[in-house]
Amino acid sequence: MSRLFTSLVLLLLIMSTAWSAPGDIHIAIETNRTALVIRVDKDQNPTIVHLGQRLNNADEYAQIAGNGKRGEDYTGLYNSAYTPAGGRNLLEPAIQVTHADGNPSLDLRYVRHESKAEASGVTLTTVYLKDPQYPFDVTLYYKAYQHEDVIEQWTTIRHTEKKNVVLHKYASANLYIPAHKYYLTHFHGDWANEMNPTEERLTEGMKLLDTKLGTRADLFQPPSFLVALNQPAQEDEGEVMAGTLAWSGNYQIAFEVDPLHNLRLMAGINPYASAYTLTPGKEFVTPSFLFTYSSTGKGTASRNLHRWARKFRIPQGKGNRVTLLNNWEATFFDFNEEKLTALFKDGKKLGVDLFLLDDGWFGNKYPRNDDRAGLGDWQENVKKLPHGLGYLVKEAEKAGIKFGIWLEPEMVSPKSELYEKHPDWVLKLPNRQEYYFRNQLVLDLTNPKVQDFVFSIVDNVVTKNPTLGYIKWDCNAVIYNAFSATNSNPSHLYVDYVQGLYNVMERLHTKYPTLPMMLCSGGGGRVDYGALRYFTEFWPSDNTDGLERVFIQWNYSYFFPSIATCNHVTDWGKQPIKFRTDVAMMGKLGYDIVVSKLDEKELQFSQQALKTYEQIKNVLWQGDLFRLASPYEGDVASLMYVSEPKDRAVWFSYLTNNRYKAGSLAPIRLKGLDPAKKYTVRELNIYPGTKSSINDDATTYSGNYLMTVGFNPKVDARRTSVVLELTESK
Ligand code: DGJ
Repeated sequence: MSRLFTSLVLLLLIMSTAWSAPGDIHIAIETNRTALVIRVDKDQNPTIVHLGQRLNNADEYAQIAGNGKRGEDYTGLYNSAYTPAGGRNLLEPAIQVTHADGNPSLDLRYVRHESKAEASGVTLTTVYLKDPQYPFDVTLYYKAYQHEDVIEQWTTIRHTEKKNVVLHKYASANLYIPAHKYYLTHFHGDWANEMNPTEERLTEGMKLLDTKLGTRADLFQPPSFLVALNQPAQEDEGEVMAGTLAWSGNYQIAFEVDPLHNLRLMAGINPYASAYTLTPGKEFVTPSFLFTYSSTGKGTASRNLHRWARKFRIPQGKGNRVTLLNNWEATFFDFNEEKLTALFKDGKKLGVDLFLLDDGWFGNKYPRNDDRAGLGDWQENVKKLPHGLGYLVKEAEKAGIKFGIWLEPEMVSPKSELYEKHPDWVLKLPNRQEYYFRNQLVLDLTNPKVQDFVFSIVDNVVTKNPTLGYIKWDCNAVIYNAFSATNSNPSHLYVDYVQGLYNVMERLHTKYPTLPMMLCSGGGGRVDYGALRYFTEFWPSDNTDGLERVFIQWNYSYFFPSIATCNHVTDWGKQPIKFRTDVAMMGKLGYDIVVSKLDEKELQFSQQALKTYEQIKNVLWQGDLFRLASPYEGDVASLMYVSEPKDRAVWFSYLTNNRYKAGSLAPIRLKGLDPAKKYTVRELNIYPGTKSSINDDATTYSGNYLMTVGFNPKVDARRTSVVLELTESK
């Protein structure tokens, strides 16, 4: 009897929480094609009832029945818009706190919400929540970028309790997605082996993506992923969400298929070793979680993120970039003024805009002649550079190119004057051995004095050399020895570090808003939209082997636009220089080779390639990317960029398998063209002494033909990479 009664009560509870009732409030966060809908019931519980395609008629969101709830949600919280721990929650929370009086539970009820246009095409919806028993507020922010179909969300947490409150977990986003099946694509790697995809079906329970590396946080796993609904992710069809956390430190993204088989997602700073003590009246702001939802596959999702990043996130996303010659692989630490001045001339001869001097130019008491000393002592090494950086800047300019410099401002070598002078500026544990990653230690960016020092490293170099054209900011160590001598709260370290880093970057960006800066971290150890607020571009990997790069760049392209992806032609790998150049062109082109060692044809080819790049770079940087053939599925990788008016396109194809007969045996169908337009097809980057059969063909093809029948770029063992340009013929 009593069991029957309990069941009835439960059923009533389920019905009242799962279905909309008159008087419920529906908050629709909409872009042109996507909607995230929060329902607030009579008890002021905020739950997500829709995440997917936008409905034509917003009134109909009220008819959605409990977001696919297929049975008993004992708590009414499975689809909470921000799941509080304690109380009645049974699943992974978005937030977990201990109140000033020791109460370990949180209840969050809706107070009010507002929506306002922030800029043209950008709407900010703010949802205010509060604990009914405690002066504890959580505010959820959802910024909808209409045309790009991107939603950015973050949270602020504040209280006015009598004493401090401890935040154990404080996610940026909590989403709820109903589907029959969920396929997660996440990425893993290591140095020179970044961004390897794995797609797996999510089953009931939790899957965590996370990092605990502190700095260089993405070395093993970046905070970017795809979730495909009902079927594995397809390029041009099916429902796919692409998400990424804009945070350069420890993160945790939890995917939980709940007991009702709906997908819960909690993304934010990693709670690992990061309990945060919040003083009364102070606000904690979480980083942003960014996502786009596409009902036409991962191709659309990528293009949405690219457009958003160019327009709203990356500095000068619509602007120019410089081509450069870097000396890292050409000289490593072994250079002097004479060698460098010769390289400037080589750079000019090659046709790049800038020479980038890499690691090894500094340190005197402990010269930076290898990676075991000198980091932190940012004075020119007098033996290598007796006339200083200013002289090099001028010499480069005399040679007709600009000069840029490598810095690793967050780090210190134990063998350095900086470490001798300021041992307390370093992250290290009392009573413990120091552990080194690449023979170095991490400076304590939680300390404002250290922040000022790090700022001054970059500031001094730029102030002394006002025509400096580029900064490469490297970060080669993870956080070992996670302890700050001056930070009173050890569990704030990981969070405060990133905030300290952003503080420095923000100051630099404000002072030098147009200075091109590369975000590098021992390859691609730090590629996220938090840091990319301050950097014009990023370094995806030290692995510049042309073939490897096809794969690495392919995977970054899901989330990051080509204008921000630095690709350098180097001597890595067995591919011919044409192959390496063609691959590097699919982004921001640079070189890291000994120009004087190129033979006549190689030099001629490279010079012409840079001229061609100048002609096509706008299509590559601002156009839409279409992935045509995956290197994971066949012998050929094929990608194209189409200009916005669809009057030009550049199409790259590569042989990725060298078995007998491997190649593009059949035509490849193009994408993104205007079916009604006519296009001529012309081969670019033809190697001196070779001829393109494609260029003999004077036929024009309609976009309709090219997208329906396709065109064979004729990739085979003799033509391992092919670049074709399509131009509207009027
Ligand atoms: C790691 C970077 O990824 C390389 O490009 C180079 O700058 C080295 N660090 C220098 O130490």
